Amino acid sequence: MKYTITTGDCADISTDCLVVGVYAGSKLTPSAIAVDQAAGGLLKRLAKRGDIEGESGHTLLVPCEDHLRAPRLLVVGLGDADQLDADEFLAVVRSAATALQRTGATNAAVTLAEAKVKQRDLGDRTRIIVEAFAVSRYRFDRLKSKKSKSKNRTLSKIVLPVKEKSSVAAVRRSVREGEAVSSGVQLARDLANLPGNICTPSYLAEQARKLQRSHQLKVSILSEPQMRSLKMGSLLSVTRGSREPAKLIIMEYRGGAKSSPPVVLVGKGLTFDAGGISLKPAGKMDEMKYDMCGGASVFGTLLATAELKLPLNVIGIVPSCENLPDGAANKPGDIVKSMSGQTIEILNTDAEGRLILCDALTYAKRFKPDAIIDIATLTGACVIALGDPASGLFSNNEQLAKGLLEAGESSGDRAWRLPLWKQYQKQLNSPFADIANIGGRGGGAITAACFLSRFTDNLNWAHLDIAGTAYHSGNKKGATGRPVGLLTQFLIQRSRN
Ligand code: BES
Ligand code: MN
Ligand code: ZN
Repeated sequence: MKYTITTGDCADISTDCLVVGVYAGSKLTPSAIAVDQAAGGLLKRLAKRGDIEGESGHTLLVPCEDHLRAPRLLVVGLGDADQLDADEFLAVVRSAATALQRTGATNAAVTLAEAKVKQRDLGDRTRIIVEAFAVSRYRFDRLKSKKSKSKNRTLSKIVLPVKEKSSVAAVRRSVREGEAVSSGVQLARDLANLPGNICTPSYLAEQARKLQRSHQLKVSILSEPQMRSLKMGSLLSVTRGSREPAKLIIMEYRGGAKSSPPVVLVGKGLTFDAGGISLKPAGKMDEMKYDMCGGASVFGTLLATAELKLPLNVIGIVPSCENLPDGAANKPGDIVKSMSGQTIEILNTDAEGRLILCDALTYAKRFKPDAIIDIATLTGACVIALGDPASGLFSNNEQLAKGLLEAGESSGDRAWRLPLWKQYQKQLNSPFADIANIGGRGGGAITAACFLSRFTDNLNWAHLDIAGTAYHSGNKKGATGRPVGLLTQFLIQRSRN
């Protein structure tokens, strides 16, 4: 999508479709008023007839060749003027984008950023528009032999009219941020939507190499023998039941001063999780191709960071393998030794994410990170606790937790904090090893986080459990690209301090 920013009267713009907002009670936005005047009271007449009442998300396409320099006008309901918050605004923009995509317009002028949205300035509203239009264009049909019938003419240019010259710079910056986040989200969704037989650990490693070439990241890939020399006994125990070689993918973006300690992102990269010997039930097992969404979000966030050229150092680490049942696979009761030296009793082979993450977290210490954030589809318990509105957040550092919560709030990609109290740690006691890999029925998302905390002593660490947010199941099945929005916002914020 190509964006241009203009100043001046929106009614004068020559475009395939002009998009204007109307609040509930047929209250016209400034652009709608301008259009109404230019078109001889057209909108007021439509309002009188009851065709535009401003109901939130409602759209009306009005052919208007005679009145404007645009042959189409798309009127979009914004709902109650004093009730419009960021979530509602996003929903409104999404329905506008969908309606627009159904027309033959290849370009459009979108004035919706002038709507007043609670706690969101013009820049924020612009970003919401850019991200929503990107999402509405997303398709994953590369594995279908017949591509979904897309219009031969598709929307490719958007004009954003801005009232004051003084706000052009802020709007331009927001467009750039929105586009960067969108490419990150799209990369994460594409990687995640690919099935396990295509998106293997080796495939992910190749994609990292691609980022190395296109975005000058420094990439290194550790093989199983290299992991063996590092004594990553926990990670290696998970991959033993698989025929695909495990990979530890390391991507370095260096935009900050040499001496500035990096933010390290560690993403769970299980390209398929069947549960291992503690096999999962068959229903919905296909969705476990999404068990690499944490890793995918690390790819996406690094892409967005590199596109924005943020003045920070960011390192992405993606431990990647499969969890399958096999004669060589982990068995319940097995005890393995992690890179940290701690021994782990594997009581359930399906709690494998923490087994690969713990070694990746230990490895990450060598980068002397300022903050380390792991991202993982870690527990079904987190889905039960929070559903899909928020990812679970755990942290041993107040400031880091606050920064991530705020980034979630302002990007609309929310997280909610859960505790790491030491009462929960007890649940991980094992009679035979230093720690057990599961903590019983109660507080499953928390005990999983407690397990990881045993490997992040002396680090500023946070853990995002994205099992409920990274993808949709059922008839809307597909990856969401979360939490690329949250993480990129966090890094943008940090680069400003
Ligand atoms: N990848 C799953 C977690 C998961 C479950 C993600 C559902 C998305 C949707 C993870 O490896 C797992 O299997 N966790 C177990 C842990 C249990 C054995 C303690 C779970 O949540 O059931
Ligand atoms: Mn599992
Ligand atoms: Zn898993």
